[in-house]
Amino acid sequence: GDDTRIARISSAIRVIPDFPKPGILFQDITTLLLDPRAFRDTIDLFVERYKDKNISVVAGIEARGFIFGPPIALAIGAKFVPMRKPKKLPGEVISEEYSLEYGTDVMEMHVGAVQAGERALIVDDLIATGGTLCAAIRLLGNAENFNFYINMRSGVACLLILHIIFTTHPNNGDLFN
Ligand code: PRP
Repeated sequence: GDDTRIARISSAIRVIPDFPKPGILFQDITTLLLDPRAFRDTIDLFVERYKDKNISVVAGIEARGFIFGPPIALAIGAKFVPMRKPKKLPGEVISEEYSLEYGTDVMEMHVGAVQAGERALIVDDLIATGGTLCAAIRLLGNAENFNFYINMRSGVACLLILHIIFTTHPNNGDLFN
């Protein structure tokens, strides 16, 4: 059942203290990727949850959302849209700046990748401050107009993929055309 799978996923994630800085307890999903059954279970759990939710876009956040997002997108019949670090995407982009512990970073998405009214699922490996997630939400439109809900499974040690479903607001259409 789900609990067995979640326990296997949880134990496949390596926790490394003081990386990349003292005081950070790093959640290393590369060990999960080395365990095909646990990796498969991870994807399956999300596919089971989202397959009949009318989701047309899976948005993956660089870098680990690029690992978990595409297999979920393929399985639920959605397109995959990468949300990238700055100056990586060759086409016209929209950008969102967000705060880090020290300083700021920028996330970019191609214009035209998402249309108004689409339902999107945002995929990443974890949430810490939430700054990255908030930037991804803003990038997909203007958050105050969204009907969105956060659906996190917190039972898995410190990590499982963060996922949010929302519908882009029709008035944001010009952002994405
Ligand atoms: C990590 C993680 C999330 C983000 C969460 O990415 O994969 O994307 O931090 O942190 P937050 O909730 O405080 O914003 P990281 O900054 O390590 O980038 P990378 O995946 O490109 O290495």
